[in-house]
Amino acid sequence: MELSQNKRVADMNYFELIAWLGIGSSHPGGFPATKQNLAVLQILPDEYVLDAGCGSGLTACYLAKTIGCKVMGIDINSQMIEKARTRAEKEGVSHLVEFNIANVYDLPFPDNKFDIVIGESITVFLDKVKVYREFFRVLKPEGRIADLEMALLKELPVNLRHQMEDCFGAGTNPLSFEEWHNCLAEAGFQDVEIKNPQALKDNGNIVMNELKKDWVLIKDLTNKIKRQPTLLPRLQKNAGFMKRNRSYFGFGLIYGRKPTPVKLGFKDWVRQVIFRKKTNSSK
Ligand SMILES: C[S@@+](CC[C@H](N)C(=O)[O-])C[C@H]1O[C@@H](n2cnc3c(N)ncnc32)[C@H](O)[C@@H]1O
Repeated sequence: MELSQNKRVADMNYFELIAWLGIGSSHPGGFPATKQNLAVLQILPDEYVLDAGCGSGLTACYLAKTIGCKVMGIDINSQMIEKARTRAEKEGVSHLVEFNIANVYDLPFPDNKFDIVIGESITVFLDKVKVYREFFRVLKPEGRIADLEMALLKELPVNLRHQMEDCFGAGTNPLSFEEWHNCLAEAGFQDVEIKNPQALKDNGNIVMNELKKDWVLIKDLTNKIKRQPTLLPRLQKNAGFMKRNRSYFGFGLIYGRKPTPVKLGFKDWVRQVIFRKKTNSSK
């Protein structure tokens, strides 16, 4: 059964809308950008990947299929997770990929679990440093974070910021590449860089671009518009905003590495023991 079939379009937030539409790759640059990023990441078959905010699981299943690595996909939206599980079954990768409902602010995993955390258009909607600190926690030392996000190429005037939030939800906040870089560094990552930075090439409307590619989605869309006529104006509003203001936006892969823990030499160990003794005796 379709989970949101009774919810009115006007009551759906942006995530619920894309989940209901069944969009596979709802991030800037679409699936070609995912492939471009994976090419530079060179993930290995024995690495354990967390896809945070995995949506309907397209990237997670692709990773399992092409690399053979284990992937954990999490998303806060239950409809996304249901679609992702169905995708994994259909694509025969359920033995490698697991999907669960979870919140990136409070991941249900122990420290140092994953070799790499992938995000695609999720932190742009959230508190960046807070999320990056949680990714840091669940990554193994030397583990990598690779987050594909929308960036601002120039300052967005306040009226356009309001329009953007109206289209994609309150709190939607793309940063400049420099600010993205700083957030990752503030969360403790090192070797921070922006890989594959680029301007939006097409009209920038993620949802419309994905819908156009897939006849099944278009057919389904026609039925959905018949049932909920407010869907079309809502899609047109988002499409119009991106088309008019495309020159403000770009995207890139915000990349960093969790540092290696510092190994204590004998002298450091002695210093620590003395320090501990001193603090205990002064209590
Ligand atoms: C724009 S979509 C991108 C989905 C997918 N990564 C992709 O590229 O197609 C953002 C996703 O983040 C999920 N999300 C938003 N806030 C979240 C949170 N706090 N924890 C986990 N997932 C969240 C939404 O449910 C949605 O599926």
